[in-house]
Amino acid sequence: MLQIRDLHKSYGKAAALAGVDLDVAKGETVVIMGPSGCGKSTLIRCVNRLTEPDSGSIILGGQDVLALTGPELQQFRRKVGFVFQHFNLIARLTVLDNVMFHLVLAGMDRDQARERALAALDKVGLKAAAERKPGQLSGGQQQRVGIARALAAHPEIMLWDEPTASLDPILVGEVLEVMEELVKHSGTTMVIVTHEVSFALRAAHRIVFMDRGKVVEEGEPERVFAQPRSEIAALYKKLLMN
Ligand SMILES: Nc1ncnc2c1ncn2[C@@H]1O[C@H](COP(=O)(O)OP(=O)(O)OP(=O)(O)O)[C@@H](O)[C@H]1O
Ligand SMILES: [Mg+2]
Repeated sequence: MLQIRDLHKSYGKAAALAGVDLDVAKGETVVIMGPSGCGKSTLIRCVNRLTEPDSGSIILGGQDVLALTGPELQQFRRKVGFVFQHFNLIARLTVLDNVMFHLVLAGMDRDQARERALAALDKVGLKAAAERKPGQLSGGQQQRVGIARALAAHPEIMLWDEPTASLDPILVGEVLEVMEELVKHSGTTMVIVTHEVSFALRAAHRIVFMDRGKVVEEGEPERVFAQPRSEIAALYKKLLMN
């Protein structure tokens, strides 16, 4: 499904990605963990070209992602759902319009977009809030709108960049619950950057640890937390025991 080879990206002299290889199978859920600044966001942002890598290759669903330009790239991005740490909702639009917006922009007729958006809001438990404005929702609810917005496009793959990191700890649980439900029942391929170790243990098929722009360890959640081989995995294991 997703095949990343020898991906490099530098900012000035500093390497954010120093040769990353990663494979994700169709329907698989991969969690990426690692210390701040190790390149997690850079890596997943390269997948839909929010960030341009310097070299390497990315193949997604048979498409050479780095070769896409113009309308091809636009069309490709619609197949990739992205959930951000900061929800990036449009304050003056209703929840429903926030979720419909990019579907209509992509040329879908309004009725169909509305139907899709309502179904996506239903999946995150927010159908009843469709006519509210983002400012009238809690942080957890706003992030669930962010998730519905990604879901509404029926993406082939979903990329999540620390979706619970800017939430009040009390609100983290409701978002993780929605995420876990999606992971278990949607069958969509997921790449999730998160520090939530117990979520990762329950929901991930595989955990990938990064450090200084490289993948330093990967494996099944039970294995990597029980017998970490890298320094970084050992640190996360400690988190789990606290
Ligand atoms: N737009 C940018 N300009 C300059 N440097 C950048 C830019 N984006 C990222 N970097 C640098 O690249 C490195 C990797 O950043 P990245 O955001 O991918 O890390 P991360 O693992 O997502 O960290 P965090 O857990 O804090 O989100 C860091 O050293 C960062 O400072
Ligand atoms: Mg990041």
